[in-house]
Amino acid sequence: MRADLIIVHAEQLLTMAHAGEDGTPASGPFAGPDQGRLGLLEDAAIACHDGVIVAIGPTEEILAQVQEDPDCVTLDARGKIVSPGLVDAHTHLVFAGTREREFELRAKGASYAEIHASGGGIHSTVRATREASKTELLDLATRRLQTMLEHGATTVEAKSGYGLDFDTEVKQLEVLMELSRRHPVDVVPTFMGAHAVPKDQDAEAFVTWLVEDAIPKISIRGLARFCDVFCEKGVFTPEQTERILKAAQAHGLGAKLHADELVDTGGAALAAKLGAVSADHLHCANAEGLAAMAKAGVIATLLPGTGVFLGMREHAPARKMVDLGVPVAVATDFNPGSCFSESLPLMMSLAVTQLRLTPQEAWVAVTRNAAHAVGRGHRVGSLEVGKQADLVVWDAHDYRVVPYRMGINLVDTVVKLGKVVHRRSPRPEAQLV
Ligand code: NIG
Ligand code: FE
Repeated sequence: MRADLIIVHAEQLLTMAHAGEDGTPASGPFAGPDQGRLGLLEDAAIACHDGVIVAIGPTEEILAQVQEDPDCVTLDARGKIVSPGLVDAHTHLVFAGTREREFELRAKGASYAEIHASGGGIHSTVRATREASKTELLDLATRRLQTMLEHGATTVEAKSGYGLDFDTEVKQLEVLMELSRRHPVDVVPTFMGAHAVPKDQDAEAFVTWLVEDAIPKISIRGLARFCDVFCEKGVFTPEQTERILKAAQAHGLGAKLHADELVDTGGAALAAKLGAVSADHLHCANAEGLAAMAKAGVIATLLPGTGVFLGMREHAPARKMVDLGVPVAVATDFNPGSCFSESLPLMMSLAVTQLRLTPQEAWVAVTRNAAHAVGRGHRVGSLEVGKQADLVVWDAHDYRVVPYRMGINLVDTVVKLGKVVHRRSPRPEAQLV
């Protein structure tokens, strides 16, 4: 067996995989008691060839099995852990302008919904994004994607939704397509024309435009894999959301919802009824809706950074979700209004401290389950022979340390498709004066 990249002597290697009694590897996201299943190996090695994982196991065994290519890269992970590349399953990556004034206004007591209703919020980012050129948007998004990569993400879902007109939505989606081609991180594009009702338009007429015009055209051009709707009081009603997502599904797009973020509108139950791939946020979701999601296999993508950023007192009922058997993913929600952070490791810290997931559950939430939430679970999110060689080496001796070191980036090396794409620059020796 040939190898062109081998990582040896990992103190811990998190496979996020396990095999049943008959040896068949588990498929699908992990839920309930499996939500915390790391498939942990000690003093382990992983060998890759042509971007694919070819062997995983105890270091001595793997070294005996593989034949190293002449230019094979060998990384020694003694005292470090190795995980799958992280998957950020919910981001709003492409936009122009920033909203630090609103950040201040909220500190002084204004709410997110009030700012939105008065024409700020999403509307102000829409204005800036309409004005920006494709080159400017590509440049801004590239830097953000690079920051995500440096924090361990190798696959990122990203939404349009700061255009709300055809040309700007297409401009955002084309930027995503270009990014995916030119940057090491894989980008999964989502059409979110239903992010807000444009200021001067009637909601029903806008929904009809999305359903009859925008969705068919976006789908035929192959610009999106998913369609997402902001189903929220004062934005899109559950009925409008259903119309939009049914049209999207009929045109071959997977359904996603921003559901029950600020108030309970029955978004969780709607996600189950539609067979959505994921329902996201869910701060205020009710128990029946969550039980329906568990039954329908809808993934809950939780965004604890948003709750913290908006100063919400209550967080999503993550423990109840795990108990009910809803597979839980965790993502950044990176956007200029409600969570301006690219760091998935920070979200893992918040998942443990605010959502009360265990560190094990938080790891599964940003790898295996997040991969399934973006339709890539067959290729990434776990370390298994035959899967894509997307890996992160962390400067930590135990997997718990990553969420424990809140706000500190412990990424040492990132491997994408079997190639080293990021290494932490060596730190200068501290100087005492
Ligand atoms: O996921 N909720 C809607 N969309 C984003 C916020 C977008 C914005 O404020 O620009 C969210 O929180
Ligand atoms: Fe969002």
